[in-house]
Amino acid sequence: MKAKISVSENNIISQIDPRLYGSFIEHLGRGVYGGIYQPGHRTADDMGFRKDVLELVKKLGVPVVRYPGGNFVSGYNWEDGTGDKALRPRKLDLAWAAVETNEVGIDEFQEWAKRADTDIMMAVNLGTRGPDEARQLVEYCNLDTDTFYAQKRRKNGFEKPFGIKLWCLGNEMDGPWQICHLTAQEYARKACEAAKVMKWTDPDIELVACGSSHKNMPTFGEWERTVLRECYDHIDYISLHNYYGNPENDTPSYLGQAVNMNEFIKTVADICDEIKAEKHSDKTINLSFDEWNIWFHSNEQDKQIPRWSYAPRLLEDIYDFEDALVVGTLLITLINNSDRVKIACLAQLVNVIAPIMTEEEGCWLQTIFYPFMHASLYGRGTALSAEVEAPSYDTDKLKNIPFVTTAAVKNDDGGITVFAVNRSLDEDCEPDISLPEGYKLYQHIVLDHDDMKAANSSAEPENVVPAEVPAEGKTLLKKHSWNVLRYRKGE
Ligand code: AHR
Repeated sequence: MKAKISVSENNIISQIDPRLYGSFIEHLGRGVYGGIYQPGHRTADDMGFRKDVLELVKKLGVPVVRYPGGNFVSGYNWEDGTGDKALRPRKLDLAWAAVETNEVGIDEFQEWAKRADTDIMMAVNLGTRGPDEARQLVEYCNLDTDTFYAQKRRKNGFEKPFGIKLWCLGNEMDGPWQICHLTAQEYARKACEAAKVMKWTDPDIELVACGSSHKNMPTFGEWERTVLRECYDHIDYISLHNYYGNPENDTPSYLGQAVNMNEFIKTVADICDEIKAEKHSDKTINLSFDEWNIWFHSNEQDKQIPRWSYAPRLLEDIYDFEDALVVGTLLITLINNSDRVKIACLAQLVNVIAPIMTEEEGCWLQTIFYPFMHASLYGRGTALSAEVEAPSYDTDKLKNIPFVTTAAVKNDDGGITVFAVNRSLDEDCEPDISLPEGYKLYQHIVLDHDDMKAANSSAEPENVVPAEVPAEGKTLLKKHSWNVLRYRKGE
């Protein structure tokens, strides 16, 4: 197959916000307990954080981590996770029918984030709670005043404020599964008042209002309009969530799912601009795609988990090679929409639908770790528009899926990185790649495998790993492969 890929430095999409490569840790399954935190483990540090996990998180270069949920946050009392650990309550977590011991809360997580070189995107509970507790949490985390909640933080051993900049106004409040689910109008009012008092407490924070839980929600569209009309002046971003999967084992359609992500983003951006026009506003609301990933492998096994377990193996999808290709196409889509998507969180980071898995004997990396790491490391800078002329294919579910999909980034060191996925199951692609004058390929990293269902595991951690292929000679995008093409000027 032939394809033409043209990248011009004049065709700029946007400066990429590094938070495009964010992730997410929820109090869910083994995300926190047995994931990032395991006192007594041979790699545990002085606070009980697993150092082997910290090293891998740093390797991914995750700039921001959403916390503490997810569905969990809608029943969470943040004070339970602060102060003397011996006094912390064991509680029922109704979101995941689990027991929450509160050994880890914001007191510990802000320290973990420092050790992981990342920032926190903090979610407040707008399910069982409201604006009052949200503003108190902002005071606890960010203020240096001589007032009750700032003093409470000091008494708990933290003289300096945590300085958390980015906040989510609840989680998926449009979903009937959410603890204290709200209608669009109910959420819009609650979020608006929470936003006001949170920003009055700390005017430097940025706020993300809940958009739809996924593109097929019956309320999608009207939910966004209602929330934006009510909250426009008080928020900075609206969220998008979507998980993808291949439960019907239809690989060609599955490989094309990024087309849906692209449409979802464009539609939400259009709605934001529609409300901007309606309000005659100068302000643009941008997008926070703060939950995205593949999630379907673990659905059946999760039905077997007994209720009220502590740190059960929940949502532990084992990702295969085709999942990694799909994650690659989703990353390409996020980069190509970086003019509107400023924040995105791979959901999640450790054990729970995650790139990093822990076992007693050590960690192992899922297939999806690699495209995410490549994008996070080499996808920083300015997104350039990469024009692709390539054949496309149709499936019963999707039409016009290009076999080759790409994103191009002008990196801050002056190089250019082209990410490319060849979706064809049968044909290699010989692309004719045109770059600005003087750029030469110096590194070509490929993730490919003969078996689309090949996965890694604790026993076989290197079954699917990337490799470098020679950068000289003709560039080939092998059939079903993820490619990172790195160019620099000269020589
Ligand atoms: O990431 C897992 C769950 O997916 C989150 O708790 C929720 O927000 C979403 O439905």
